[in-house]
Amino acid sequence: MINENIDLKGRNFLKLQDFSSEEIRYLLDLSHYLKKAKYEKTEVRHLEKKNIALIFEKASTRTRCAFEIGAADQGANTTYLGPTGSHLGKKETVRDTARVLGAMYDGIEYRGFGQKIVEELGKYSGVPVWNGLTDEFHPTQILADFLTVEEQFGKLSGIKFVFIGDGRGNMANSLLIGAAKMGLDFRLICPNELRPKNTLIKLTEKLAKQSGAKIQITDNVNKGAKGAEVIYTDVWVSMGEDESVWQSRVDLLKPFQVNTKVMKLASKKAIFMHCLPAFHNCETIVGKKIKETFKLNSMEVTEEVFESSQSIVFEQAENRVHTIKAVMVATLGD
Ligand code: CP
Ligand code: NVA
Repeated sequence: MINENIDLKGRNFLKLQDFSSEEIRYLLDLSHYLKKAKYEKTEVRHLEKKNIALIFEKASTRTRCAFEIGAADQGANTTYLGPTGSHLGKKETVRDTARVLGAMYDGIEYRGFGQKIVEELGKYSGVPVWNGLTDEFHPTQILADFLTVEEQFGKLSGIKFVFIGDGRGNMANSLLIGAAKMGLDFRLICPNELRPKNTLIKLTEKLAKQSGAKIQITDNVNKGAKGAEVIYTDVWVSMGEDESVWQSRVDLLKPFQVNTKVMKLASKKAIFMHCLPAFHNCETIVGKKIKETFKLNSMEVTEEVFESSQSIVFEQAENRVHTIKAVMVATLGD
């Protein structure tokens, strides 16, 4: 049941800590509802005649497509502004861009660098702004991840959810907040050198007290992964990071690769998740380079795990559409 007392109209969606657990629950319920309606071909359009700007200062496959499909399904028009070709950040300030786009568009998505940029767009545009990934947070991804977990296990609360890898990246940060808000049994497994910022850990602990979530941060893979129902990882080097960090990241994160040994530590019914794109073989340009430079056939996850029946990554990717659509409908829909 969708809680009709919740109204997110006109709100930005910049980071999960801006939303109560009831509001996140609402967005997940709306996502389930919209997914079912799309499958049953009963979808009602709530974004007709709306114009949406999609700013991508970094590359994207899933997020861009999810915004474009979500908007099209709901009757809205989109304009894509890619990493080149607009004045943003070069000849025009973020604040000016916000006011220009806000005057023309009904909603703005931003993917790029600092969280400060998306916060500023949200502050000055006067229309809902949605975070499509920043260096610090990737909140729409978490909605898709949680929708997927609910489809698999019928619940979120108490789920033994492991994130293993870079503990300071946008995925670890956002999962920590999401898990703490929604009452998960969350284990972050990362090297001590890559632990999240203390301010974020403190915030997570405070949120966990309110929701009953359990949060553990450990560098012990055996301890953290034992009995897990979800094993989740992300790339070792994120978009926008300097190439020079590769060597140290490989050195630090090699023992944290998701392989069959890690999956065996988890519950028999455990699923493997990844926000994607993933380096699970050497078939891409970057994959080839990694093989030549570091003599690795895969990085954060092995081909065996990625292609196994436990891997749910493509269902997870599809859920980006339903959850991003829910965010747009909730904040901008009629
Ligand atoms: N998971 C995700 O955000 O994918 P893209 O980079 O393809 O948008
Ligand atoms: N941490 C990754 C997530 C990609 C969806 C990155 O920022 O590149």
